[in-house]
Order: sequence, then structure tokens, then C-alpha cells
Amino acid sequence: MIKVKVPATTANLGPGFDTLGMSLELYNELEVSEVESGLEFEVVGYGSEELDLDENNLIYQSMKRVFEIVDYHPQGLKIKLNNQIPLARGLGSSATAIVGGLVAANKLSGDKLSRDELLNLATEIEGHPDNVAPALLGGVVISTIKDGQVVYKKLSVPKLNIVVCIPDYQLSTVEARESLPTEVKFEDAIFNLSHTGLLITGLITEDYKLIKYALDDKLHQPYRQELVPGLETILEEVKEDCLGVTISGSGPTVVAFSLEKEEKIGEKMVDIFSQNNIKAKYLVLNPTDQG
Ligand code: HSE
Repeated sequence: MIKVKVPATTANLGPGFDTLGMSLELYNELEVSEVESGLEFEVVGYGSEELDLDENNLIYQSMKRVFEIVDYHPQGLKIKLNNQIPLARGLGSSATAIVGGLVAANKLSGDKLSRDELLNLATEIEGHPDNVAPALLGGVVISTIKDGQVVYKKLSVPKLNIVVCIPDYQLSTVEARESLPTEVKFEDAIFNLSHTGLLITGLITEDYKLIKYALDDKLHQPYRQELVPGLETILEEVKEDCLGVTISGSGPTVVAFSLEKEEKIGEKMVDIFSQNNIKAKYLVLNPTDQG
């Protein structure tokens, strides 16, 4: 039996659209055993009702990719899930399924693929590397795709608390990407370049006051505001209480980076969502170096 534990991730970190992501101490666990025949699932936690529990399942589809490449043919599989990451909230639940499936299948078939090969495959399946890279590697990961290969650098996680405010509705990444424009203004691109540079420098040098200036974004958040009622107010009003606040991945979860007053920040975000008729809850999570 193979056991794999994959962390939640928060992608973009504000200005680093499709480029930056960070892993968080909240996990989905996966146990895979070879059985005589068929495909069985058992789900504890999130997803027992919403997930495909058949050959269309994303974990199984990801496992199949590895088995095809390494020419391994299990007779049957039993997949047991313990999901602590809510689905379709911008916390990388699809990335955990892809990474979990790839890593489990690779272990089951004799560890033939390298970590970089698994990362390339995960990125190909997900379409962008910013969730799958920190899900696989842990830490904060900066990544891009060059000639079909992911080029990346992992940084140690910052000594910050992340207040994660999770609304009680799902928003698919596909829908949230459809709201984005096909072209952006030159000045908006420059805005994001400068902010991403400041953010990465702030993280590397642990000069966290730079984050205060660096989490703003003009490439995706403004276009996603109508999908996340209350987002605009949260970005404006919570900023003063923390180092920075941003939508997590494609939303609807919102994350605040802080060194203190986490309860106050969390309660304020929940309150603003509730003024917009959205129920939400908050968690205070630490970033993790473990993928
Ligand atoms: N970079 C992706 C997006 C992350 O914002 O669409 C999805 O979680």
C-alpha cells in the first residue's frame, strides 16, 4: 500500500499570476493499494458527493498517465482519500489530486520518473504550474514553462501566518479564467512585474514590510471581483490590519499574510462576506516546506 500526503496551495500570491505559489499546512491524503480487479474508491472528508468516483476521477487519470509512460499494468486499484481541502475554492484541490495520483502511481510502479518529470506531467495536466509545483515540492515556488519544461526555483517558506477565508460556494478555475481579458494594458503589465519583483525580494530577504506594497495586482483580481462578492471591500479594508491580502488562486478564497491579529483579520473577512450574503469561515495556517 502506498500513502501520499499533498498540501493545499495558494497560487498567484497577488501579482504572480500563473507563476507563484505557496504550500500550506492543510492536506489531502491518499492511500492506494493494488487489488485483484476493478477500481474502488473510499472518500473521507470533502468530495464524497461531488467527485467522480470512477475512471474519470482526476487522481486515477493522473495515475494512468504514469502507468502508460512506465508500462506498468496493475490489475485493479483501491484508492482511499482523506480530503481536508475544500473543493473548487482556490486552495489547489485539483493540484493535490494530480500530484497525489502521479506520485502514488510512480511509487507503485518502482519510482521510475524523476521529480522534474512528475512536475512536467502535473503541469501539462493542470495547464499552469503555480499550484502543482508547491504541491509537489513544498515551499514557495516561482515557475515558468520553457519549451514544454517547467523551470522553477523553490524558496523557503516565510515565517508568516496565512489567514485563509473560505466562502461556502465553489468557483471553478475554468470559469474564473474565462473572466480574464485576452489583452492587458502595458502599464498594468509593468505594475505586476514590479510588484512580483518586490514580493520575491521581500520573501527572500525576509523583509516582510515589502509585502505590504507588493501583493496588489492588475492582471486578474480586478476581473474576478464580480465572481467573489465582497472581494473589493476585503482588499481595501483588511489591508490595514495585515501585511497584504489577495484572492487565493482563482478564488473564491481570500488569503491575508500577517504577523499578528489573525483572529481580528479572519473575523473581519467573514463579516464582509456576510454583508454580501456569503457564508464563510476562516482558518489560520502556516506555510510548509514539505511537498
Ligand atoms: N494561476 C491560476 C489562476 C491559479 O489564477 O487561474 C488557479 O488556482
